[in-house]
Amino acid sequence: MTAGPALSASGEPLLRLDNISKEFPGVRALSNVHFDLRRGEVHAVCGENGAGKSTLMKIISGVYQPSSGTISYKGEERQFSSTRESEAAGIAIIHQELNLVPHLSVAENIYLAREPRRGFLVDRKKLRADAKRCLDRLGVDINPDRPVRGLSVAQCQMVEIAKALSLDAEVLIMDEPTSSLTEQETRLLFKVIRDLKASGVGIVYISHRLDEMAEIVDRVTVLRDGRYISTDDFATTSIDAIVSKMVGRSLEEKFPDRTSVPGDEIIFSAERLTRAGTFRDVSFTLRRGEILGFAGLMGAGRTEVARAIFGADPLDAGTVTLHGETLSITSPRDAIAAGIAYLSEDRKAQGLAIKMPVDANMTLANMEAVSNRFGLIDFAKHAKAARDYVDLLNIRTPSIRQPVRLLSGGNQQKIIIGKWLFRKSKVLFFDEPTRGIDVGAKLAIYRLMDELAADGIGVVLISSELPEILGMTDRVAVFHQGRITGVLETQKTTQEEIMRYASGYARPAG
Ligand SMILES: Nc1ncnc2c1ncn2[C@@H]1O[C@H](COP(=O)(O)OP(=O)(O)OP(=O)(O)O)[C@@H](O)[C@H]1O
Ligand SMILES: [Mg+2]
Repeated sequence: MTAGPALSASGEPLLRLDNISKEFPGVRALSNVHFDLRRGEVHAVCGENGAGKSTLMKIISGVYQPSSGTISYKGEERQFSSTRESEAAGIAIIHQELNLVPHLSVAENIYLAREPRRGFLVDRKKLRADAKRCLDRLGVDINPDRPVRGLSVAQCQMVEIAKALSLDAEVLIMDEPTSSLTEQETRLLFKVIRDLKASGVGIVYISHRLDEMAEIVDRVTVLRDGRYISTDDFATTSIDAIVSKMVGRSLEEKFPDRTSVPGDEIIFSAERLTRAGTFRDVSFTLRRGEILGFAGLMGAGRTEVARAIFGADPLDAGTVTLHGETLSITSPRDAIAAGIAYLSEDRKAQGLAIKMPVDANMTLANMEAVSNRFGLIDFAKHAKAARDYVDLLNIRTPSIRQPVRLLSGGNQQKIIIGKWLFRKSKVLFFDEPTRGIDVGAKLAIYRLMDELAADGIGVVLISSELPEILGMTDRVAVFHQGRITGVLETQKTTQEEIMRYASGYARPAG
């Protein structure tokens, strides 16, 4: 590490922002925000989706320039006009949206534009060895030579983290680094964070997983609607207190009471679905109005099964039946026509047309509903539909014409959900729907799932968060290495039992 020794808590902060404001056309993203970072601390920034967290981080790292306010770094007033400049000064950022170049190798991505050279040529051997060292430090097993294309979201996140570590920065900004990591990967990351902290690096940590913060966070700053609310020592505050500062009121319930009761009628069934090398003999049923959980460790095949049913990947064998009719789905188009929707975990790649506006994204999957009888778009209907869902999901956007790429990460996620709700599907697969979504919006999404189920729709909830599975589902299918090892009644099961099936220790009965 190039960072100097940790200063005492009373020393000059490593980084200090005063009265920072940032305006975008039609949006005041930040007003008079304060923030400071000490050496050797982990400082969390909390706030609802659209509160201004990422914007503040982009100002620190030179992606954006503030409209007003000052930044001082190591006691000197500074402003960075690009990430290249901030990196040179020792500030690294892991962005919430992953920014890797798909056709380049993992190693090339880690050292993009900083490749070690011998004379004019890139020193391939050193590049590979250096990249491997960064990956090893995170305890991840990814071949540095393979292209980034084809890596899972979690693996991409790990590569982004390795890239930031490779910079040997004094300030490390992590914007939602764990949103798609498993428990175990998060553990490894936390260990690295503790090491960095001990060597004097100042770390800014943004996450909607508030419960995991206790392990590493020293101080926490809360933003609400782009305004500065507070900074506290983590030890003297509580998650409840942080949440009420974030939302401006206290939130009593984490999960809504279920109003839907599943009927006896089976509306959807999958029989012996197999895709070579990915999953085998996967069978499950879904009753009218039921919420079925898919639990399991990362890579157990849950997403892959959903993608295959949705026609995004081919099936080698097996049948899918909806309302008594055997479906032959060879593309997502077929699935959508049949009434099957899949909300993907990777919003950038699969869920959104990010350059298009909010309203177009919302209605894209169901243009008929906003067209007149001549097949032309009825603009009034179109706008009303978009506005209704923006309200329903509390999506923060200056207008329904705003390009989706300009919305905050969590608000983009809500648009994908709105899009499928608008489609009025019969079976909905939600893949990690609350990842990166703030506490208030989580509750809204849970309520929606319950309402959908009450309307007779079959819902599959793929989630790595067991409390969410236990809080929302009727039954849970547990995956282990591409197979379902058990289907459990949610009311009668426990986290421990689910984990036993997920790790392959428990075997299916009968
Ligand atoms: N480039 C931009 N142009 C216009 N508006 C923007 C731009 N970047 C951010 N915004 C707006 O600024 C506000 C703050 O967004 P920001 O991304 O900082 O939120 P966030 O706190 O990181 O939210 P999340 O938890 O969803 O990631 C939002 O209303 C967002 O739509
Ligand atoms: Mg953000």
